[in-house]
Amino acid sequence: MTDPQVVLEQRFSDAIVALGPDAAGADPVVRPSQRADYQVNGAMALGKRLGRSPREVADALVATADLEGIAARVEVAGPGFINIDLSDEFLVRCLSDVRLPMRGVRQLKAPETVVIDYSAPNVAKEMHVGHLRSTVIGDAIARILEFVGDAVIRHNHLGDWGTPFGMLIEHLVDLGEQEAAAELSVGDLNTFYQDARKKFDADPSFAERARQRVVKLQAGDPDTLAKWRLLVEQSEAYFSNIYERLGVTLTDDDYKGESTYNDELPSIVDELRAKGLLVEDQGALCVFPPGFEGRDGEPLPVIVQKSDGGFGYAATDLAAIRHRIVELGATWAIYVVGAPQAEHLAMVFEVARMAGWLVPPARAEHVAFGSVLGSDGKIFRTRSGESIKLADLLDEAEARALEVVREKSPELSEEEHRSIARAVGIGAIKYADLSSDRVNDYVFDWDRMLSFSGNTAPYLQGAHARVRSIFRKAGLNEPAETDPVQVIIAHPAERALVRQLLMFDGAVQAVLDSLKPHRLCTYLFELAQGFATFYEECPVLRAETEELRSSRLDLCDLTARVMKTGLDLLGIPAPDRI
Ligand code: ARG
Repeated sequence: MTDPQVVLEQRFSDAIVALGPDAAGADPVVRPSQRADYQVNGAMALGKRLGRSPREVADALVATADLEGIAARVEVAGPGFINIDLSDEFLVRCLSDVRLPMRGVRQLKAPETVVIDYSAPNVAKEMHVGHLRSTVIGDAIARILEFVGDAVIRHNHLGDWGTPFGMLIEHLVDLGEQEAAAELSVGDLNTFYQDARKKFDADPSFAERARQRVVKLQAGDPDTLAKWRLLVEQSEAYFSNIYERLGVTLTDDDYKGESTYNDELPSIVDELRAKGLLVEDQGALCVFPPGFEGRDGEPLPVIVQKSDGGFGYAATDLAAIRHRIVELGATWAIYVVGAPQAEHLAMVFEVARMAGWLVPPARAEHVAFGSVLGSDGKIFRTRSGESIKLADLLDEAEARALEVVREKSPELSEEEHRSIARAVGIGAIKYADLSSDRVNDYVFDWDRMLSFSGNTAPYLQGAHARVRSIFRKAGLNEPAETDPVQVIIAHPAERALVRQLLMFDGAVQAVLDSLKPHRLCTYLFELAQGFATFYEECPVLRAETEELRSSRLDLCDLTARVMKTGLDLLGIPAPDRI
């Protein structure tokens, strides 16, 4: 498939060059439009730049642009907008070649090395819904970057170090290693953590043991390290199980916990000192990046080394960003972390700039997201007010989906019901998270997310499965990827569907520009709606002619392919049957 927008962009860029050296390189600003298939808006800015009226510039562009065989109607409207309707022949030609959805054909972005920091739960603590959001959003972004050709390095910045490990290790000692491992491996992380915490608060001798344990851990005492490793490994095994159930692409090799950077921390201090950035403040070594102030108007520090010689969360993040940019050569460091950490990350990025690590073309970006709310509008928790255990949430998703699927397709076997329920239940949770603008909070609503209508995973999965069932029921083989596409546009619903199919690349591009996966969700939802209209208005298997039937089957196949590719980029399974 070829993106018509790209073709228009090329033709108008050429026409801009013909306007003279002052115009060269200007963006033609081609956008899909309500008034026509596409609108070219570049004449506004160009008029200003050339000191000519935009209307005149638009006329000149239309006169020079080579739109032969491309446009059926070109019109200059208003102060200088160019409206273009494409010819059906051109639309059909864009569809042909191979049945593969486009992949970054727009090539606005040269491939680069990207480190994406996501998921990042904490050892011996249940992953909360915030971590679920980070995991689901981060994974979609990672998949999309890979799809357009970036070298993507996934970093799971696990919270695996720090003072709480004193009490956690002592609690492990009290329980016995086997008992502790058993509790952790089934995901009773909250119980483990809370029991440790309770003892720490109530029992001064336990608290003292915990404090000594931290000292031993930091000093690298082998027995303490072994116990710490046990905690880390058990938690990792639990998290990996969740990732597998979620169908997330994170692997065990991607665990790059905070402790990964322990050996780097002294050299961070040295380097920042050598660069004259360190300031001693009440015994702690700090950097004060300009522009960050506390409520009292006092400058805010990034604490690099605490007065007791210890290192904290910020120091680790400084080492991590240096590693990612300077050692791994990433030009894009992406952090998928909840909005409350915005200031922390902005300060870390600023110190990395001051230190000369984060210099263009390298850049860092905080991909922030809002909270998950319950139906009461408050932070999503269990009825008793506890934070929700993620494994239970996934169980419930599958159980609820199983009921829905059983009712919808009673003819299928129990085994099929279960496997479809898994795809639908997990898909629903992920899609509910991805389909709204990530910066907003969203309300966790089982009925809505599991509904087969509306902007939901089941609706999109259903659209995909519906197409596959057309082929199945007619006893037809699905076309092979390399089979030629032969589409005839005979009905407005066909034309609309063709245009929609050809906008896939633009939707991917929109996600790249904003790192907001909901842009792709919206596209897929509109595609599914376009398909539904087409399917309602245009008989496929009973089309009037053989040619039309084969054309419509091609449209079905292309829709299924784009839908499957799109869902896959979001990390959502698209079973052939629902
Ligand atoms: N473990 C942290 C938390 O649970 C998130 C880490 C985010 N990544 C980072 N590089 N700081 O809040």
